[in-house]
Amino acid sequence: MTETDKASIKSIIEKLKRGCVKSSEYYLDLFYLRQLKHEDKISTFCYEMEKLFDKGLPGLDEENRTRMLRSRLLSAVPETIKNYLEWLSEKKWPEIVHIFEKSVDYKEIYQGKFQIKEEVYLNKIYKSRTRSYKFNGTCSSGSFISPNSLPKSLSDKIENFIKTGNQSKCLDLRKTNLTIKLPPLIPGKFYLGNYFDLKEQPVHLSLTKLGEKYHHAFCINIFGQLMVVLNSREAIVQILSSKTLEYADRPSCFLLQLATNNSKDLVFSKPNIQWLQIRTAFHKFFSDMKKLHDRKDMTEIVFLEIWPDMYNQIEGLTNKKEPYEIKKIIYEFQSKILSVLLFGDEIAEDKYLLNEIRKLDTKSKEFISGLYNIMLNMNPLDNFLDNPSLSTLCQALNLQKSLMCKIFERATRRARNSLLSDQSDNICMRSIIDLLLPLLSLEKSLFTETQIKNVLTELIFAGIDGIVNTVNSFILYMCLNSNLQTRVYMEIKNNVHGDFVVLGDKKNLIVTEACIYETLRLVSQIPLGIFRKTVIRTELFGYVIPEETIVIPNLWKLHHDEKIYKDPFKFDPDRFIDAEKLSLKIDDTKFMFPFGTGKRGCPGKNVALNLIFLFVSSLVKNFEFKLVDDVDGDPRSFRLTSNLEPKSFRVQSTLRITSTTNLIQMSTKKSEVKTLCTDRSSLIKSIQENRHNLSDDES
Ligand code: HEM
Repeated sequence: MTETDKASIKSIIEKLKRGCVKSSEYYLDLFYLRQLKHEDKISTFCYEMEKLFDKGLPGLDEENRTRMLRSRLLSAVPETIKNYLEWLSEKKWPEIVHIFEKSVDYKEIYQGKFQIKEEVYLNKIYKSRTRSYKFNGTCSSGSFISPNSLPKSLSDKIENFIKTGNQSKCLDLRKTNLTIKLPPLIPGKFYLGNYFDLKEQPVHLSLTKLGEKYHHAFCINIFGQLMVVLNSREAIVQILSSKTLEYADRPSCFLLQLATNNSKDLVFSKPNIQWLQIRTAFHKFFSDMKKLHDRKDMTEIVFLEIWPDMYNQIEGLTNKKEPYEIKKIIYEFQSKILSVLLFGDEIAEDKYLLNEIRKLDTKSKEFISGLYNIMLNMNPLDNFLDNPSLSTLCQALNLQKSLMCKIFERATRRARNSLLSDQSDNICMRSIIDLLLPLLSLEKSLFTETQIKNVLTELIFAGIDGIVNTVNSFILYMCLNSNLQTRVYMEIKNNVHGDFVVLGDKKNLIVTEACIYETLRLVSQIPLGIFRKTVIRTELFGYVIPEETIVIPNLWKLHHDEKIYKDPFKFDPDRFIDAEKLSLKIDDTKFMFPFGTGKRGCPGKNVALNLIFLFVSSLVKNFEFKLVDDVDGDPRSFRLTSNLEPKSFRVQSTLRITSTTNLIQMSTKKSEVKTLCTDRSSLIKSIQENRHNLSDDES
């Protein structure tokens, strides 16, 4: 144990002493429960017990009452947790109890003033490295039985479970005395597990280093929580694509539960019917609008509306020869585009509301900036110690509450007006909120209001950041490779014949597209994806992955694998170009997963790819960019905030074309977004029907 580790353990113990001294049973449970039930407060429990004692044994003296309470508390530790602890510590249960007992005074717990008696020496409970274990239903490692050799009754049980697809019921294997093989577990420390192994550098780099000697997968243990890290391309393809439903859940932890009102959202929701229907509604909006606009994509219509303003702003800075942060301009316009798509142009044109939307986005980003830390930090102490993320979260939730009320009020008024003018119960749809809102007023509503507000907030956040960051990084690579910038420009000049780039030009802009994919690969801005969790017990290349296991796809490793991408840290779009056929060779279902994939993959993938294309090609078509600041393009030096992003940088630009007449005319043109009027019951039916399409790939 290094000095730093010792100091860190000590500081945890200090915190334990200061604010959170409760019974041993309480801690043991917290450490090993996969999902923290923070409502299960020991004080409430004690109070309940006291009432029971009073009823059953009126007048029982305090000492005896404490004794009974103590034995009641200890007997409440489930058998599986006892087994697991015995395995971890190589000690018998009474010995473990004894160590913890020394630290707690039950009398004081009972009286409600908790104080620690003696420090728990963690090194007294030391974890062994090599042993084979019996599977007891909790996380443990073990030896070598493939699911094929499971007893018949058990394999029947699993098969049945998969067939009926009953996700609410757990497949209870606890009583089955089986040895199974989990992916290899990286040795760590008791309770802290591999926590400090991940602290040296950004977590994706630490996991990549830890995984060097493993093949498909390995396990880490963070505060008693087992997590499986996927290390190979084949393993990632399997969980994202071919076994997409088995890995369709997300981890839940205290802060995320708070942020999402107990997972009443989209990103961290359980894969249930509401989750599926919200995703369906999202896709339905874009496909219906496309039909309405003669196969023109909504993203293109909205982009072309804002582009003249963006052009004018950059042109102004170009003429002044001023250096500027292009990221800020991209952010300003992308947040406007997204506001139009989510809430309609009426809201996006209201300067006050648009500003509030941006404020909410910034606050949420601040909270989520350590998303991986939040997801990895299974430290129960976080729930009752001062936590900076917690206060940012509270501010974000307050902002969300007031902003969403205003937006809902406006949108409801608009919907009501259109209903009044049209007695046929039609829904008039120009933005995603128009589609979601009427679903609330149903007798048996599909979603709750909280759910819709959470989803809309998530979409603001998810929809702005990734696109801004990709376009910003693209411009950085263009500046760092000026020949490439000229090559992209020449391609656009020779192939785009209108005044504006449109999505129809995509097929002719091979180099531009290859540069976009190369940016997505090289930066890998969500380097570990968004963690998944198994819905049922499943198998991965001979390993068994128990149900409810957190699974981390290391997309960073895959995107920088030398065996797949030669010279992986070089920006080289030609790796995606078939020089002979002059076409793109991108198999983003096998080698590239910047958006994840499968049932839980990013629903905004197409929106993102279209907008990124329109932004970058319009920018390069009209301006030449030069870097003013010294910035490193190597993503290993990027900061991991909500995404992996380069250090902020400024550019200077030169105008490529001189005539802007058409742009100026365009900027005064009225909105082209048409309103789709559709019958409410058929809309609802089509969203409900999608629940049966579980096996179809949405993307
Ligand atoms: C360059 C831009 C983007 C990148 C790199 C990106 C990446 C990702 C990734 C890696 C995931 C996890 C997928 C998985 O677990 O397999 C995800 C999920 C998600 N993304 Fe995106 N995304 C981008 C843009 C967008 C946009 C524009 C939207 C919406 C307007 C969006 C909405 C979402 C949502 C709602 C989820 C959660 C889906 C679920 O859990 O069912 N994303 N994204």
